[in-house]
Formats: sequence, C-alpha cells, structure tokens
Amino acid sequence: MTESWDTIADWYTDLVRADSAMHEFNREILLEHLPEDLSGQRVLDLGCGEGIITRAVAARGAVAVGIDASPRMVENAEAVGAAGVRGSVRYSVDDGCVLGTVATGSVDWVTAGLSLNNVPDLDAALGAVRRVLVARGVLVFTVPHPCFEAPHASWLRDEGGGARRVVGGYFAEGFWRSEDPGSVRRAGNHHRMISTYVGAMVGGGFEVEAVAEPAPGVRLAADQPRRAELPPFLVVRARRG
Ligand SMILES: C[S@@+](CC[C@H](N)C(=O)[O-])C[C@H]1O[C@@H](n2cnc3c(N)ncnc32)[C@H](O)[C@@H]1O
Repeated sequence: MTESWDTIADWYTDLVRADSAMHEFNREILLEHLPEDLSGQRVLDLGCGEGIITRAVAARGAVAVGIDASPRMVENAEAVGAAGVRGSVRYSVDDGCVLGTVATGSVDWVTAGLSLNNVPDLDAALGAVRRVLVARGVLVFTVPHPCFEAPHASWLRDEGGGARRVVGGYFAEGFWRSEDPGSVRRAGNHHRMISTYVGAMVGGGFEVEAVAEPAPGVRLAADQPRRAELPPFLVVRARRG
C-alpha cells in the first residue's frame, strides 16, 4: 500500500502523543522564535498535524487556527480541541499551497512545523503565507535538516561503537519516500536544499531574520544518543517584507 499523510494519520498522532522526544524538541525550537506571550495574536499553523504546535501557541494566549491537508489529521486535532489552553484553537482541512480557508491579511504569525517539506510547491505555499499575513507579519518554520536528513540518509556504526550519519544525494531535489515502514517519511516528502528554502523566502518577498540549527536538547540526546552531534532540524524565521 502506498502511504499518505491521511493513511498514517492515526499512527503519527499516536507517535506524537506518546511524548516523542523528536517532536517535543521540534516544537520547542520553533517556539523559541515566537514571543512568550501571544495573547490575542492570530496564529495560523500550516500543516498542523494532530495539533502539537497549534495547542502550544494557544497555550501562550494565541487565537490559533490549524490547517492541514489530511482530513484524518484534522479530526485527530479536533478531538483534543482547546483543552487547557489560554487562547483558542480551531482547525480546517486546507491545502497549504492555497490557504483557501484563510482570509487575506488576517494573521499576525504563521507557524509551519515540519510541513513545508511536505508541500509540493514551495513558492505557492510561501505566496499563500504572504497573502494571509498582515504587513510585517512573521513566518517561523522548521524542516528536517536538509543536509543530514537528505533522501535515504542512514547510519553507520563507527569503530568506537558510535554512529555516523551517511548522507548523499543532496542535490537531488524533489519528491521521495522512505521505504522503512517505521519512518515518518514513508508518507513521502520533498527534499530541498537550504539555498532553495532561503532563495524562495527572499524571492517571495520575505526578510530572513534568523536561521538556526539547534543541537539536540538533553532529552532528545538521551533518547537517541546517535543524534547528539547533529542538528535534526533547520529553523527559519522570516518577516513579510
Ligand atoms: C510531519 S507532519 C507535521 C505535523 C505537525 N506540524 C507536527 O509538528 O507534528 C506534516 C504535516 O503536513 C501535512 N501536509 C502535507 N501536505 C500538506 C499541504 N499541501 N497542505 C497542508 N498540510 C500538508 C501533513 O498532512 C502532515 O500533517
């Protein structure tokens, strides 16, 4: 069976809600680029999945809207709803390349955690984000680190008993899917070079304010020691110019 985000939605939801160290780390490094207090701020979470980031921004007081192309993912997010958050949450099925459910100039912030590497047309997604953001609004996104999470990256045991990441195919941009039945990326995703992301931001009318490659935190390094020496994610913060 060829998997899609909709067919693995329940599996992914269980993974994230089983207190996944990777997803907690991803959420925390993205939140570092947002204000602690988002009271009354309108935040669109693009590719919200089961809502891990949507709920986190709402916990900071935001009026949060999560959109995702997978109806099942949205159902799973809605099942948790706004429990325990200070702000509010609402979800819709929508395509991040279009954002047809989101009005022009209606949001102050856009978050996109591990989702822009899933959209087929990055320029279209950035155009849609630009349209829905207010003037000087901000996009913060994370993607799997394009260098170390390049297509079909694997691990090699070294002589000291540690592990080394084996990567290649960095220039082979485009759609790929992992053949590992336990990999998130079996749903398929789009590999893009770092320069492609930055170039698309600049070309799409964004001012890049920060690019970060955070080292795994204590919990992630303990959970997956082989990851301790490499950044799993790339974080970008860009302002609508
Ligand atoms: C790796 S998950 C990330 C979910 C969530 N942001 C998180 O941090 O757990 C990627 C998400 O992007 C969604 N997605 C894929 N293509 C999309 C598109 N064109 N528009 C909106 N969402 C999309 C998938 O359905 C999936 O929920």
